[in-house]
Amino acid sequence: MHSVRIAIANQKGGVGKTTTAINLAAGLAQRGKRVLLVDLDPQANCTISFVDRQSIELSVYDLLTESAVEFRDVVMKTSQENLDLLPARISLAKLEGKLIGDFEGPYKLKDRLHPASSDYDAIVIDTPPTLGMITVNALVASTHLIIPIEAAYFALEGTQDLRETVKGIKARLNPQLDLLGVLVTKHDRRTLLSRGVYEEIYKGFGEKVFETTISKSVRLEESPAYRESIFTFAPASSGAIEYAKLCDEVMRRAY
Ligand SMILES: Nc1ncnc2c1ncn2[C@@H]1O[C@H](COP(=O)(O)OP(=O)(O)O)[C@@H](O)[C@H]1O
Ligand SMILES: [Mg+2]
Repeated sequence: MHSVRIAIANQKGGVGKTTTAINLAAGLAQRGKRVLLVDLDPQANCTISFVDRQSIELSVYDLLTESAVEFRDVVMKTSQENLDLLPARISLAKLEGKLIGDFEGPYKLKDRLHPASSDYDAIVIDTPPTLGMITVNALVASTHLIIPIEAAYFALEGTQDLRETVKGIKARLNPQLDLLGVLVTKHDRRTLLSRGVYEEIYKGFGEKVFETTISKSVRLEESPAYRESIFTFAPASSGAIEYAKLCDEVMRRAY
């Protein structure tokens, strides 16, 4: 079985990147995969969904900026079996500035993850809502990319810039990078708007759009506050059923 590294990216905020990273990581771990969740967003929402802020000693920022810090010094266990976390802290925001002018800048994450790669079947990377060096690091370190897109007006806005960035990275820094799929989130089957938006996204991305869509769900908003994935927090909810379907689709496409 080979190891996959999946970046979750879209420079638009609020589209469901973090929610998808958390529940994809948790779902793959439930299916017996050894999973590492990497939090590359200074907001650290993934991190605080799994561990107590006070319990973090070193973060991914230290790993990426201090050569004396090693992967095993930073990685944390979560309460869920098979799921480890590379935690973020707000200090990660300083990384963009630090990497400017460093010729190894885009490769930092890839290099620092390398020693641990074989310990995991899947590495899921959450990214900030920008196309800066942090997101570039995630895309360089990954074999696959998932783009969550919110089913709302202007859904495709900005996706062209993201596609250009991915194209550039594929051509120069990481030929391996592959778009695994586009995930339609916060979908509301009852509204014509959502249906129209889905068709628009399909026109833009065709077969790359996952069959599974994620509905609007209050349960998905609530679960991080209880430090649980949707699968344990509300196992019968639409969010749990849909993210489980997404995990199956991801397994079929990536392995
Ligand atoms: N399917 C959904 N239904 C309802 N709320 C959602 C859904 N997915 C995400 N949210 C909520 O929307 C907000 C933004 O989601 P988040 O995953 O943090 O997006 P991003 O990481 O792209 O900024 C959060 O408050 C989250 O709980
Ligand atoms: Mg986020």
